[in-house]
Amino acid sequence: MSLDDLIARFDVGDPAFIADPYPALAAIREATPVFRNPATGQWTLTRFSDVQETLRDRRLGRAYTHRYTHAELGRDEPDRRWSSFQQHEQWSLLCLEPPDHTRIRRLVAKVFTPRAVAALRPAIEGFSAELLDGCAGLGDFDLLTDYAMPYSVAVICSMLGVPRADTQLLLEWSHAIVKMYELSTTDEVRIAANTAAAEYIEYTKALIADKRAHPDGLLVSELAAVEDEGDVLTEDEIVSTTMVLLEAGHEATVNTLGNGTRALMLHPAEWQRVVSGDVPAKSAVEEMLRWDAPLQLFERWVLEHDVEIAGQQMQLGDEVAMLFGSAERDPRRFPDADRFDVGRNDAAHIGFGGGIHFCVGAPLARQELEVSLAGLATRFPGLSLASEPEYQPNFVIRGLTALRLTT
Ligand code: HEM
Repeated sequence: MSLDDLIARFDVGDPAFIADPYPALAAIREATPVFRNPATGQWTLTRFSDVQETLRDRRLGRAYTHRYTHAELGRDEPDRRWSSFQQHEQWSLLCLEPPDHTRIRRLVAKVFTPRAVAALRPAIEGFSAELLDGCAGLGDFDLLTDYAMPYSVAVICSMLGVPRADTQLLLEWSHAIVKMYELSTTDEVRIAANTAAAEYIEYTKALIADKRAHPDGLLVSELAAVEDEGDVLTEDEIVSTTMVLLEAGHEATVNTLGNGTRALMLHPAEWQRVVSGDVPAKSAVEEMLRWDAPLQLFERWVLEHDVEIAGQQMQLGDEVAMLFGSAERDPRRFPDADRFDVGRNDAAHIGFGGGIHFCVGAPLARQELEVSLAGLATRFPGLSLASEPEYQPNFVIRGLTALRLTT
């Protein structure tokens, strides 16, 4: 098969590719470390070492507007129809580069500390136990809607200090907004995302005002109060930060639980290693993250002239796409990479990224996933698939429509 034919298999609109992208990704990865995606024009990286180096490469960035105008990079001005969406992400860590990124990340890190995460553990265990009790009563249940979604949103909302009664609202906004990050979207999706962002901004501003009046020591309240050598966060910065914590935190955690539990159900011997305690939940979680990545693709802009990556010459303003799912199955990095092995005990994968944008929420996500997996294994040792799960028709954020399980 020619390289062009192989590249044609990278088709995010093809249900067969979405259902199992790994054979196509493997074929392309073995043929080339980099290819130009004809649909997007992006230089697309397939191998672990190149993705890992690119994450740390300061010649590239998640944004370019700190250095160039849109016109200078030959890009269109942002479409003003989606201004609420743009406003919501303007100060998100994921849309910033130094010096703004450094400044805001330092303030966020002062509040989102390992100690704050560890202090949440009893609450996390409480949410997990309560929801698993509910699932036990159902016989058959959907791990995503009956457990993972309410669980992850309860965790992040309790950390942020959002009233529990509002969590459903936030969940709906978050679902609508993150669809904007797929490789292709429709106007209908954009309108829904923009409307959700507008409502979300209004809600968050009211929440910040309330926390300023009645501080509660939780994250939004602390973000409103944090100070570093005279530096503080503005209201717009707190709005974007709160939203990125909820969005980034929620979807990826839910999809890791869905994709990873599916993998365990498809590999009963691996599930039994967790149930028996031979493999601690903590290590199994790392393999769940690696084997079926919940976030398949991250992008960067080339910010300098004549940059060479994976042997390919790239120009200022080019876009680079890093295929995490492909990198995480690269046999150059992981022995027997396609094998799902909960005892692999390799936490140095790139599931949480690398470099300056490394996931702020990684310790929280790991704790949430560990508590969930341990809870499932203890309560439901005979857990099995109740029906064949299907993937949502998205590639960048990869997750199931449902995961029906029988206890
Ligand atoms: C299994 C769950 C999760 C996965 C797989 C994940 C993955 C990632 C990855 C790969 C990045 C880097 C993106 C890039 O370099 O372009 C990232 C960044 C980030 N994540 Fe996570 N994440 C998870 C959970 C969370 C949670 C629970 C939170 C917060 C509550 C969170 C907050 C963030 C934030 C704020 C950033 C941006 C950091 C920056 O730009 O400096 N994530 N995450």
